Amino acid sequence: MRSFLIAGNWKMNASPSEGVEKARIIQQKLSGKNLHNTLLICPSFITIPAVQGELHHASVKVGAQNVSEQEDGAYTGEVSTGMLKDAGCKYVITGHSERREYYHETSELIARKTKKVLESGLKPILCVGEKLESRKAGDQEKIVADQLKPVFDTIPSHLARNMVIAYEPVWAIGTGETATPEQAQEMHASIRKMISDSWGDEIATSIQILYGGSMKPANAEELLSQPDVDGGLIGGASLQPESFLEILEIAESLV
Ligand code: 13P
Repeated sequence: MRSFLIAGNWKMNASPSEGVEKARIIQQKLSGKNLHNTLLICPSFITIPAVQGELHHASVKVGAQNVSEQEDGAYTGEVSTGMLKDAGCKYVITGHSERREYYHETSELIARKTKKVLESGLKPILCVGEKLESRKAGDQEKIVADQLKPVFDTIPSHLARNMVIAYEPVWAIGTGETATPEQAQEMHASIRKMISDSWGDEIATSIQILYGGSMKPANAEELLSQPDVDGGLIGGASLQPESFLEILEIAESLV
């Protein structure tokens, strides 16, 4: 049985001092509570150490939003997997649609970054998802398959078991528009089938597939109740500790 991963992507929000405030609330509310699921916070690089310093709960982890594909050296402005591990990170988001769109990250680069993350012992949360015009044309599965192909080609199955995949339809990110539970389930099931075809059934059954795109307390239950939805990658609603924790509570009630 897969547990839920409730992941917050703070994007370019929350300075170190603001991150400390949010993390303190989360730590205080969860202190002494036993969780069945994992809560993950992905602040900006500079806020990671501040947030990490406030969290002392076995089921609450910190992750990054991006990483270099390189090991170390002369790559001005980049951050390596080794640095993230040293700072206490356990996860790294790779291939977010904002990285693909605004920073021109290709699916091939994203596959290399994802492999680097896996080799380092961190867990990647690889994001895929179609834009509105592809959804309207009914091409969403082809788009996601194309985004995943370099990942299947690059990453051997023994590394793949530590991956997390997030389905984030671009038209649902920050728009208030959410995929219906049926749309989410349909895509998640088809991603699981693609994983099975490339890496085998056992890995397909164990990999967590998260939904992202305007997830909030009001829609979390119906999304998380779908058989192939194993958590959420949450932007806006993760910035308020109260709403983020409400989504966690919903996940806890579904276990
Ligand atoms: P929103 O929850 O704000 O739509 O953002 C989703 C997202 O992009 C998480 O990575």
